[in-house]
Order: sequence, then structure tokens, then C-alpha cells
Amino acid sequence: MAGVSGGDVGDADVGGADMGGADVGGGAESGTTRLLVVHHTPSPGMQAMLEACLAGARDEEISGVEVVVRPALVASAVDVLEADAYLLGTPANIGYVSGALKHFFDQIYYPCLDATRGRPFAAYVHGNEGLEGAVRAISSITSALGWEAVAPTLEVMGTPDREALAACQELGAVLAATVMPED
Ligand SMILES: Cc1cc2nc3c(=O)[nH]c(=O)nc-3n(C[C@H](O)[C@H](O)[C@H](O)COP(=O)(O)O)c2cc1C
Repeated sequence: MAGVSGGDVGDADVGGADMGGADVGGGAESGTTRLLVVHHTPSPGMQAMLEACLAGARDEEISGVEVVVRPALVASAVDVLEADAYLLGTPANIGYVSGALKHFFDQIYYPCLDATRGRPFAAYVHGNEGLEGAVRAISSITSALGWEAVAPTLEVMGTPDREALAACQELGAVLAATVMPED
């Protein structure tokens, strides 16, 4: 059975975003918002986690949110500037986030600093030994960018089981709901 922690989103504000006058990303079509998923996915287990997150973000009860998916090695600063919220997925590698996610942050940090301050994000981390360093890295990098977590980083150890995948789905749904346009 996989170990799962974080992702307790029961208290999160999942109401529609107040878009009135807000500084929203410019990439989505008028009347819609955009959720950018940036992930490094090196295994079937992590692919299952990604797919569960996407299923949540694309839940039929959530409307007006375009979900854009980018592997971390190709995600660009323009992708980030044009989105309204961010979902980050990474394995723990040598006590840190994957090199791919680190590369993503290295590229987008200064181009997106200030322009994306205050935008919501969520993250999931998978590993088999210890996730602390990766979770800490996500916290410090996103804090520096000024992004706001909508839930604790979801931590999954070992083969993702049904509970872990349900937590991924919930995470994607909560984040997407956060930027759902108001009617
Ligand atoms: C070079 C390398 C370093 C790793 N370091 C860690 C680590 O520090 N902590 C951890 O929990 N897992 C570590 N792992 C395991 C990966 O997180 C794991 O392979 C990845 O999440 C995919 O998991 P899966 O193959 O079991 O699906 C490491 C894997 C590799 C290849």
C-alpha cells in the first residue's frame, strides 16, 4: 500500500476565483482561464498519478478552465505567463526535485518573477525513500515566486494505490476549481 500524505484539501477554498480586475494570464480564450500542468514523469506509477490529476482538473463539474500539459523539459516562461494556475509534478531525486523540474524553474524564474506573483498552485511528489528535500524545494522556490499553495504538497511513497490516485484527482480538481471563472 502506498504511503500518502498532504493533499488534505478539505479546507481549501474551492470557490470560483474572483476574476474581477484580477491580473489573469493572457493565454486563455476570453471567458476562460488556463491551468498549466508541468510534470516530470519517468515511470508508469507517476504516469498514473499525472492522469489522475488531469482527470480531476477536467472534471465535468469544472467549466471554463483549459488544462495545458507540458513536460518540465519543454515548459516555457510563455506557458507560465499565459496561465492562471500551476500544477507541478515531480519525483524525488537525490533528495531534491527532479533535474527536469529544477531546469523548468531555472528558466522561468526571472521572466515570471513579479508577473505571476499571487497565482495559485499545487504540487505532487513521488518517491520510494524520502520526499522531504523535494517538498522543501517546491516550497522554497514557489515562495520566492510568490505563488500561493491551494493545498499541501501531495506526497506519495511507493506504488500509487487507489487512495493515492484519488488524492491526485482531488488535487487537480481543487486547483482547477480555484480558477474556475464565475458565471
Ligand atoms: C537518481 C535517482 C535518485 C532518486 N532519489 C530519490 C530520493 O531522494 N528520494 C526518494 O524518495 N526516491 C528517490 N528516487 C526514486 C524516484 O523518486 C522514483 O524512481 C520515481 O518517483 C518513480 O518511481 P517508480 O519508478 O517507483 O514509479 C530516486 C530515483 C533515481 C533514479
